[in-house]
Amino acid sequence: MAGEKRIGILTSGGDCAGLNAVIRASVYRADELGWTVVGLKEGTQGLLSRPLRYEVLRPEQFNGNILRMGGTILGTTNKGNPFHFPMPDGSFKDRSAEIIGGCKELGLEALIVIGGDGSLAILRQLAEQGGLNIIGIPKTIDNDVSMTEASVGFDTAVTVATEALDRLQPTAASHARVMVLEVMGRDAGHIALYAGISGGADVILIPEIPYSIEGITEKIDRVRKRGRNFALVVVSEAVKTLGGQVMQKEYHGGEKRFGGIGDYLSEAIASATGAETRITVLGHVQRGSMPSWRDRLIATTFGVHAVELIAEGKFDRMVAWSNRQVVDVPLKDAIAHYQAVELDDSLVKTARGLGIYLGDWPAETPDK
Ligand code: F6P
Repeated sequence: MAGEKRIGILTSGGDCAGLNAVIRASVYRADELGWTVVGLKEGTQGLLSRPLRYEVLRPEQFNGNILRMGGTILGTTNKGNPFHFPMPDGSFKDRSAEIIGGCKELGLEALIVIGGDGSLAILRQLAEQGGLNIIGIPKTIDNDVSMTEASVGFDTAVTVATEALDRLQPTAASHARVMVLEVMGRDAGHIALYAGISGGADVILIPEIPYSIEGITEKIDRVRKRGRNFALVVVSEAVKTLGGQVMQKEYHGGEKRFGGIGDYLSEAIASATGAETRITVLGHVQRGSMPSWRDRLIATTFGVHAVELIAEGKFDRMVAWSNRQVVDVPLKDAIAHYQAVELDDSLVKTARGLGIYLGDWPAETPDK
């Protein structure tokens, strides 16, 4: 497909570091081809607004430090599924046709969607309904989009969580405490597992593997027997209580998010071991910093590849990172399920090999 084109780009779902690097790369590549890139504001919200909210993105806009900036210059949202959109009177409305109409009004020949599994699934449904040509780019600190080894934002979040452990270790040692670090990740334990190994944690708890207080206590006893007076515990936000309950916090307006498991475990560990414990909840700090070199690199390859797919007329694909290369995979396969930590993952084996307490082997695991 040669000639001048007009393509759209949007960021959807929770922000993360590296989104601006994707936008920049797509704009640069499209400009090389003589195309115009339209940046849509706040995910699908800009396409629901009338007048439509968007801006034409020019390479000159990226002369400054936008490559290095966290967040997204386009804005984003993780609310308001257009197929079930909450209206002011409390009812829900299907507003998908308005979004499709918005894309048509802007004359977009293709749309690059930078999103997590939820956003990619919604946008694919919109594309099918409205005959839109879309390309997905995976982004999420949770790294739970399947068929890609990396999503934009994950590396930076792990770097932040690892640095938190680096900072907790000396204060833990000075006060002979057990430090509990609660990290994000939704239903997937990737951030906890990567940062826990990199930051020298003694205990890593992830939603995929059940744990027991006895297991944690045994590990802390072993640490003490080796002459160490402190321990580091990393817990992923969606880990359940011993009674099987998910800990959540309700925000103003009724929105619920994971939160509270760190506090809960800190208490449980203190009473089981007699250790003094403290809790750090890392929260959105993991999402908002200067992207790591790796996130910038992956984001840039993703942005360029997405535009090249459009140039080749290949749609309904998601760009992905595999075996040191940027590749692309069918979008429908990528969104079919989310990528949890696999029990036979080499990082799980590494953690266990180090003697890190990673929860109890599930009963069905043969090499228990
Ligand atoms: O999906 C990214 C993520 O940061 C999760 O790790 C976390 O559970 C959630 O978003 C927080 O959402 P919000 O920004 O709405 O509080």
